[in-house]
Amino acid sequence: MARPSLRERRLLFVTGKGGVGKTTIAAGLAQALANEGTSVLLCAIDNRSDIGEAFGLSQLHFEPQSVSDNLSLMVMDTESALRDYLRINMKIPVVTKIGPIANAFDFVATAAPGVREILTIGKLCYDVRENLYDVVVVDAPATGHIIGYLAAPQAINALVRVGLIRNQTDWMLEILSNPEKTGVVIVTTPEEMPVVETLQLLKKLEDETTVQAAAVVVNRTLSDLVVPRDEPVLAGLSAKRPDAFTSSALDGLFEAARLSGAKNTVAHEHLATLRQGLDDDLSVIAQPYLFDCADASSIVQAVATSLGEEIQ
Ligand SMILES: Nc1ncnc2c1ncn2[C@@H]1O[C@H](COP(=O)(O)OP(=O)(O)OP(=O)(O)O)[C@@H](O)[C@H]1O
Ligand SMILES: [Mg+2]
Repeated sequence: MARPSLRERRLLFVTGKGGVGKTTIAAGLAQALANEGTSVLLCAIDNRSDIGEAFGLSQLHFEPQSVSDNLSLMVMDTESALRDYLRINMKIPVVTKIGPIANAFDFVATAAPGVREILTIGKLCYDVRENLYDVVVVDAPATGHIIGYLAAPQAINALVRVGLIRNQTDWMLEILSNPEKTGVVIVTTPEEMPVVETLQLLKKLEDETTVQAAAVVVNRTLSDLVVPRDEPVLAGLSAKRPDAFTSSALDGLFEAARLSGAKNTVAHEHLATLRQGLDDDLSVIAQPYLFDCADASSIVQAVATSLGEEIQ
């Protein structure tokens, strides 16, 4: 079966190596989809995520906050997810702080790995199942944690044979394992370690989870303004400068241009390694390095514009 495109899916986990631009791409992707009229929930899993900043929110809450007609933002919180779970599945309305229940839950969740994930991924799957949003975009845990996170429902499902938890993981797995609904977007940069981690992650996703990769975004790609064959031209220009243009500042400029060319050559090599290791039907989306964006908001809007064109 052909791999469904990123646009067709309803639950997108954005992950990648630390610092490669996961939060920026998740925000840009959510904005790009919202710009097309799709209703989007953007959820940060980590409460340290600064994803709200780009949308003028100093703080995120579990309760989604609407930032425009089609886009709402929330941050995941296990206690609130537990409260929702109790209300929806067990018809127990919990109006105040859940204190003792939360303490007992903490105890269980620490002893039984995967319980937290069931609740938090469960909340996202629920929003998809109930069609509360067209698409849920998740600023997900980084490469080192995403496999354990996405594999948890399946691990618990294999352990529990009957009852509420079994039912819960059954319908969650139906959503997570369906490539027409769920996908992982791996963010990388054209550098050695992020590319190595991306290829490793793809293999682990396939071997250890039921969730399919939807796309790879190569963030912070450099334009080919200066390529190695330009080097003799640059050297010639630099040598033949008239006296008025021999300042050290201009020396720096020529050096920067030369370095940019060299960096680009290495980046192309890493990109070639990446493409070689990918299945042919997995789309690779390039996101240019944005040099002229002053703040988080303008970066996200610029990313939304360029991703919007790429995911058509
Ligand atoms: N295409 C880009 N061009 C220029 N700057 C970018 C680009 N993408 C991201 N950045 C900048 O790189 C920095 C890191 O990005 P971001 O916070 O999105 O990474 P992250 O992978 O979420 O990091 P962490 O692992 O800490 O959560 C930020 O300052 C962001 O503005
Ligand atoms: Mg981040």
